[in-house]
Amino acid sequence: MPHSVTKAVIPAAGLGTRFLPATKALPKEMLPVVDKPAIQYVVEEAVRAGLQDVLFVTGRNKNALENHFDRATELEMILTSKGDAQKLSRVAESTDLANVHYVRQGDPKGLGHAVLRSRDHVGGDSFAVLLGDDIIDGRDMLLERMLQVHDAKDSCVVALMEVDPAQAHLYGIATVEATDEDDVVRVRGLVEKPEPGTAPSNLAVVGRYVLKPEIYPVLEQTEPGRGGEIQLTDALLTMADDEVFGGLHGVVFRGRRYDTGDRLDYIKANVQLAVEREDLGPGLRAWLREFVDGFER
Ligand code: UTP
Repeated sequence: MPHSVTKAVIPAAGLGTRFLPATKALPKEMLPVVDKPAIQYVVEEAVRAGLQDVLFVTGRNKNALENHFDRATELEMILTSKGDAQKLSRVAESTDLANVHYVRQGDPKGLGHAVLRSRDHVGGDSFAVLLGDDIIDGRDMLLERMLQVHDAKDSCVVALMEVDPAQAHLYGIATVEATDEDDVVRVRGLVEKPEPGTAPSNLAVVGRYVLKPEIYPVLEQTEPGRGGEIQLTDALLTMADDEVFGGLHGVVFRGRRYDTGDRLDYIKANVQLAVEREDLGPGLRAWLREFVDGFER
């Protein structure tokens, strides 16, 4: 379905400290999930939703990321001379995917600060933000639905997922009101990483946002919050209260999401995505059964 948004912003400037030492010289978004960097799945998702213009917000170690979405002339020449068309097409996949642009964050002062760095590129239009370490399964249409809701309500939109209440302290948690659509809620409150047992609901904000440009002046005014970082959540809360700009809506997502920023979830993501692959699935499934049997004995 057509929608008005054309630009995607992908912040990838975090320190990725949960993944050290793997992230000492590599952004965590470049860690492979099966055989593709996590961030490539995210760019593919943006393109599928019709967002061809992709801005990466990069930090230290940005070279690996830039190189991945650029030509790899030497490698292409070697594969061409060997006549290996299949591998050549794997190399070219990420080069031809989208129109990519880059902006530096400098100091990693938080997700809100990373989003603010996109202002000159985005200008006065609404835009989508996709976190580079959150993968949404390609068969589930989350971003498309969020873009529809943005156009219908003329408001900012966040993605929400039900989480185990015991895990709520790891997320931004929303207070919501129902609307007449089953998967759409009005967001009235947001609290970032609530103390265990104090979460107002089990609806967590996950890494997809459709934002109106009015968020930029709000972000500029947002003081550093938790951890000394400029929190996107704080600016979203201001948008939620602002009826003039349409407030804030949430799309409740019930599909498959893989959080590759957390070590255990990263390992699960690799297994889940690999078992569904035609080339790897049968072998991996058979091995997993044997492995689990041996483990339980
Ligand atoms: P996280 O909080 O998960 O990233 O940010 P992190 O700080 O890199 O991770 P740990 O906790 O140290 O392991 C969510 C997303 O926001 C980006 C990250 O790259 C990630 O995609 N981010 C975060 C920025 O781009 N800049 C920042 O200053 C902070």
